Amino acid sequence: METKIFNTQEISAAAALLRQGELISFPTETVYGLGAVINREASVKAVYQAKGRPSDNPLIVHVNSPEMVWHYAAKNAAALALMKAFWPGPLTIILPILPGSLLPCVTGGLQTAAFRMPNNAATLALIRETGIPIVGPSANTSGKPSPTTAQHVYHDLGGKIAGILDDGPTKVGLESTVIDLSVQPAAILRPGFINADDLAPIIGPVETEQHHVKKDEIPKAPGMKYKHYAPSAQVLIVANQSDFKAAVAQELTQQTAPLGILAFDQQLAQLKLDTNSHQVLTYSLGDNITTAAQDLFAGLRFFDDHPQVKVILAAGVAEQKLGLAYMNRLKKAAGGQFYQK
Ligand code: TXA
Ligand code: MG
Repeated sequence: METKIFNTQEISAAAALLRQGELISFPTETVYGLGAVINREASVKAVYQAKGRPSDNPLIVHVNSPEMVWHYAAKNAAALALMKAFWPGPLTIILPILPGSLLPCVTGGLQTAAFRMPNNAATLALIRETGIPIVGPSANTSGKPSPTTAQHVYHDLGGKIAGILDDGPTKVGLESTVIDLSVQPAAILRPGFINADDLAPIIGPVETEQHHVKKDEIPKAPGMKYKHYAPSAQVLIVANQSDFKAAVAQELTQQTAPLGILAFDQQLAQLKLDTNSHQVLTYSLGDNITTAAQDLFAGLRFFDDHPQVKVILAAGVAEQKLGLAYMNRLKKAAGGQFYQK
């Protein structure tokens, strides 16, 4: 199949394909999604297939207004307040659904569903023209870093989907915060740009304990049990800034292959690396946590394009606010492994 790239002037053509049951990748403020209309079982199943995603991992229903949600879930005051405060924006809200209102392949057979109104004008217009919500997991091959550019999507899904609506690189770079309002107290199932301190003034205290899924246990957010964001190389997180020099020196003595380094500008400058030596390959996370969140997945993908790199040293940050979301993704990419002296 030829995968067509649509620009933001070509929304009608992309919407027509969605209505016909085809898969279209769409931009959001977080990452690119893989869209299909929510009411065609074959199309939703094709989304799982294109990604290679386990079918018990439910999808987010993307809407272009709060009103669209109430066709599928009973009106809920806390949800309304959150929508008012944060939509369109990087917050996904889990609500109990009206029985029979959504296909089991959308919800993974659960009695709840995830709803989100993304902050991207082209995608909101796409949903409006399509006329019904679209499912949208991140548009990557399952297990790989989420895509933050149309090129990333093409790399993973080119030839497998009908089109990609290209609106340039995404701004946030990490997937939306997932808040579960079907439980008391409300619980953050996936940290993101919007954090517990942002939510509490509106809905009161929220549970933030990250749920560690044991074998055979049914996880709260089914996506949490799968390997995620992993590049081909082994990632080692360098938690302390002061350890970076020693970590690089140690890895360079152990590696014959070039060492990957994913770090902030300041760290890269301090390392005084000889980048002509072919011993190291670096990727910059910019100079603050916002740029690091934007660039993390692109950085992990950069090293996949250089398969000679077998180990990547990646900068850790303090686990607070956006840093919590960044570390959540980086730890998964690293399989929980940290550099140790
Ligand atoms: O930023 C985002 O949220 C992106 C963009 C494209 O919107 N989408 C995204 O979708 O990250 P996905 O499918 O990769 O992640 C959805 C997460 C998964 O961890 C899934 O298990 C969880 O939300 N989820 C979906 N429905 C759920 C439900 N009813 N109960 C609990 N968790 C749910
Ligand atoms: Mg994903």
